[in-house]
Amino acid sequence: MTILINDDKKLFTLQTRNTTYQMKVGDFDYLYHLYYGKRVDHQDMSYLLYDGPSHFAPYPYESENRGGSLTLMSQEFPTVGTGDLGSVALDIENADGTHVVNLKYKDYEIFDGKYSLAELPSFFSKGNDAKTLKITLVDVASDVEVELYYGVFEDKDVITRAVRISNLGVGSIQIHKAQSMSLDIVAGQYDLIHFHGRWASERNVERLPITHNVTTLGSDYGVSSAKENPGFIVAGKSTTEMTGDCFGFNLVYSGNFQATAERGTLGQNRVTLGLGDNQFSWRLEPGALFETPEAVMSFSSAGLTQLSHNFHNIIRENLCHSKYVNSPRPVLINNWEATYFDFTGKKLLQIAKSARDIGANMLVMDDGWFGERSDDTSSLGDWFVNEQKLGYTLNQLVQKVNNLGMEFGIWFEPEMVNEKSELYVNHPNWALNFPNQKPLLGRGQLVLDMSKKEVQEYLFERISDVLDSANISYVKWDMNRPITDWYSKDLSSGRQGELQHRYVLGLYKVLGALTRRYPDVLFEGCSSGGARFDLGMLAYEPQIWTSDNSDAINRLDIQYGTSFFYPLSTMGSHVSASPNHQNGRITSFETRANVAMAGTFGYELDVTKMSQAEKQQAKTATDFYKKVQELTFTGDYYRLHHSDDIVSWQIVAKDKSESLVTVVATDVVGNPPFVYIKLRGLDDNSRYLIGEKVYGGDALMNAGLKLPPFKGNYPSTRIYLKKVK
Ligand code: GLA
Repeated sequence: MTILINDDKKLFTLQTRNTTYQMKVGDFDYLYHLYYGKRVDHQDMSYLLYDGPSHFAPYPYESENRGGSLTLMSQEFPTVGTGDLGSVALDIENADGTHVVNLKYKDYEIFDGKYSLAELPSFFSKGNDAKTLKITLVDVASDVEVELYYGVFEDKDVITRAVRISNLGVGSIQIHKAQSMSLDIVAGQYDLIHFHGRWASERNVERLPITHNVTTLGSDYGVSSAKENPGFIVAGKSTTEMTGDCFGFNLVYSGNFQATAERGTLGQNRVTLGLGDNQFSWRLEPGALFETPEAVMSFSSAGLTQLSHNFHNIIRENLCHSKYVNSPRPVLINNWEATYFDFTGKKLLQIAKSARDIGANMLVMDDGWFGERSDDTSSLGDWFVNEQKLGYTLNQLVQKVNNLGMEFGIWFEPEMVNEKSELYVNHPNWALNFPNQKPLLGRGQLVLDMSKKEVQEYLFERISDVLDSANISYVKWDMNRPITDWYSKDLSSGRQGELQHRYVLGLYKVLGALTRRYPDVLFEGCSSGGARFDLGMLAYEPQIWTSDNSDAINRLDIQYGTSFFYPLSTMGSHVSASPNHQNGRITSFETRANVAMAGTFGYELDVTKMSQAEKQQAKTATDFYKKVQELTFTGDYYRLHHSDDIVSWQIVAKDKSESLVTVVATDVVGNPPFVYIKLRGLDDNSRYLIGEKVYGGDALMNAGLKLPPFKGNYPSTRIYLKKVK
């Protein structure tokens, strides 16, 4: 049983294969959190609750022994005005101006399958793989009702959470903060592992102790951002890849978010995650309902690798409806780094032809095909084909590409507008900007007000028109600047705080409508590289361009950080030119290809300029990738080694029948030693063929694979293993 209820004790237990999550209705009908961790059977964990004196802490009026202070008790969903002095999950300003939501248990409901959200993307159940528990809490004085939703994916060891807040009163209330989840961990010392970065250097791993000082992570960029990813981990002090306790949290959301981690006064830990509350506020009229984005969490007692596997599995199977999630993806050639804005239809066809010869299946025409765009100063918003520049109609060009045996993909940056555009001239009011202020620019462009119905309709229509005009199989959906000027002409002054969230709802509306209308089109996300690499986008787009930094060596860190939550099937990863355009580094073709293979492989360079020898190498690499794409997308991923001189990873088929190991030397020394890499995830008792030699799975995992010393500039190798029957 996935969800166990003890009605007498008012005890709620969520059981997954390896974890237990438990809550209880306690004193004065408050909902306490008891436990989340390694699976425990048949135990009421309420003995863990604090039952000492409150001392000088505030406690509920009803308490006869002065106990039960909510700032000392572990709570399921801490709220403002109840004496909880930590980070609360919900802050509401009532009609009378007070900030108090005193939620008491009302009832519960269990149903088969997974709840879904009305306007926001969320994980879905397949067959019988999930159940839902809904617990309703109510504050009868404030007339606020809160429904806590739990989606329990038993086999995946994952629990999702979302919250619905209803105004049952007669006056409007203002939500100032509504987090999707809060988790109190009764005791223990933990680290916070988070993924920070910047343009061209996304998702760097930082491990910090959780202290009594509240650590807040988040984004105010309007997108989930390169600065901070919504996924983060709470790990035991000694937790490693292979051992120890860790909790992973992520948010199915693509806009401003925040997460907090803190150690309470008694050494308990609290983690919260949800919408960013900086400038956020939402007016809830009587009878109205507000829905938070969905949070997703998992626990592993077997280290970080297992935690990553839990997220990879559920993201691959229960998040995106695209048919491409489970079908082969094209190897694409993107013309951005080949030509930037300087291309014609003829040039694209030359690139496509050469790319076909190295095994690519799709040409993607990047930025510059529309309006009068020949650099980044104009035309965003004018999604009309520049036939003069191309020398063809879009349909003619696509047909020519199709005739080469290649599919065709196209780039859009739908959420943007340049002042130098017809769209802006006709609809200056569609851009976000503060009244009486000059707008802030980013890459010379403004952001459209995605909360506006007309904008949503315009984009749907324009993009549909382009997609209907030719045989287009792929769309790259880009978004290239942070959002700063949060003011919508459509919203009253009291509702401007809703804009950040309404923007994201508008974006999802358009993306939802387009992906439903074009189920055969592969959508890839992008945001100045990987600035919107999140579960919200992945619900619509099965892959995202991981970073504008295509240098193989920098990519090692970027792809490493990304892998903690996101599977390789989601990471756009291309071979680009050497010297690299972002940092000038020279690397061999082999190393560039080996690194790009840990993702949705493609090319991003002028293939027509490759030497014959390089083309031959490229063809061999593409053919090899096609052979291992399914393994890469469906297998278990292991981060084997990540140090200053060696980076190595491994993919193992779920049935352990084959595996791919990649090793890159980022530094070399004189008189180099052999390199020994301990493999993982193989079958102990099976034998594996590497080249012409056979090794025991146990030997490869316990003693390791021995590799000849590395020499040269950033050398690398890939090793394919096949189980011997
Ligand atoms: C962003 C993207 C790139 C490319 C350019 C085009 O930087 O990340 O891949 O599409 O925009 O302007």
